[in-house]
Amino acid sequence: MLFDQLPPEVSVYEVSPRDGLQNESATVPLRGKLRLIDALGAAGLRRIEITSFVSPKWIPQLADADEVAAEVMGSPREGIDYSALCPNARGLERARAAGIKEIAVFLSASETHNQKNINKTISETMAAFQDTVKPAVASGMRVRGYVSTVWGCPYEGDVDPKRALSIARDLLDLGCYQVSLSDTIGSGTPLQTRRILELVKTEIPTEKLAMHMHDTRGTALANIVVGLELGIRTFDASVGGLGGCPYAPGAAGNVATEDLVYMLHGMGIRTGIDLERLVEAGKAAESVVARQLPGKVHQAGVRSLRA
Ligand code: HMG
Ligand code: MG
Repeated sequence: MLFDQLPPEVSVYEVSPRDGLQNESATVPLRGKLRLIDALGAAGLRRIEITSFVSPKWIPQLADADEVAAEVMGSPREGIDYSALCPNARGLERARAAGIKEIAVFLSASETHNQKNINKTISETMAAFQDTVKPAVASGMRVRGYVSTVWGCPYEGDVDPKRALSIARDLLDLGCYQVSLSDTIGSGTPLQTRRILELVKTEIPTEKLAMHMHDTRGTALANIVVGLELGIRTFDASVGGLGGCPYAPGAAGNVATEDLVYMLHGMGIRTGIDLERLVEAGKAAESVVARQLPGKVHQAGVRSLRA
């Protein structure tokens, strides 16, 4: 029965400074990035992915990752887990030098997207994680894993959910504490989400899973409700709906954090986030990127949930 299994609280993992800004055509200056990260912390977000230690040739928008991370880790807000995306051993080295304590690694459930995004096959990528995930975990860092294109690939179309399950299992075996199943191109629909999650849940406990839903076709929240029902308790989101994936043509940003939080609070589910201050963070994001953002609550504003 719908809404029988709702939790009292969930965790929101904010990706706008990384997933959002990596896809902006203009490169945001360092002080704008720091302003956004600070506004997110002030709104009560406790998990923020602040940048990406990928090749600056591939993602020039985040070429200042070393400076961003050193600034944030130099005077962190208390109680926040700051993380950074990291593709390989070189990225790990840079993350360590900046004082980062949590990294996120990524690969795709479809070969073509993986090749275009990381320039390796899926099995080469997983093999290279021996030099990234393993040493990171051994030195006490937390490592999160993303599996991209679970709901569909921009090059190959449908993707067998068994591929996502097998990759997620491998990431957890390597030492990741959580795997975020990603709808990279935002093509997922609720029944499909139920099929994917029911399969993945047969082998992986839901507390080790998260959902990362791009909202290209407006179905992210509907899919998240299915995830809530099936026991998922961590959801990735991007303030204002900022973002996309540069190697997934046409992909829009992640579900807007304000939309997610508005819905969750309205359902009586706590997040620890102050929605009014989150809306302020969305305005900061908009001014930092100097373009209108698509989030619904961002545009419509918050009205009393009791009215
Ligand atoms: P490559 O060209 O195959 O790498 O790229 P390489 O090992 O041959 O090295 C080539 C050059 O890059 C060398 O420099 C390396 O030092 C340098 P050169 O000798 O030419 O001067 N290099 C680096 N420099 C800085 N930091 C590094 C690094 N690694 C190599 N870490 C690589 C392979 C993985 C690096 C490249 O393909 C890359 O950076 N890809 C990242 C693409 C990306 O960031 N995509 C978006 C993020 S993923 C995403 O958005 C999906 C997600 O949100 C979930 C979802 O929505 O699905 C997570
Ligand atoms: Mg993404």
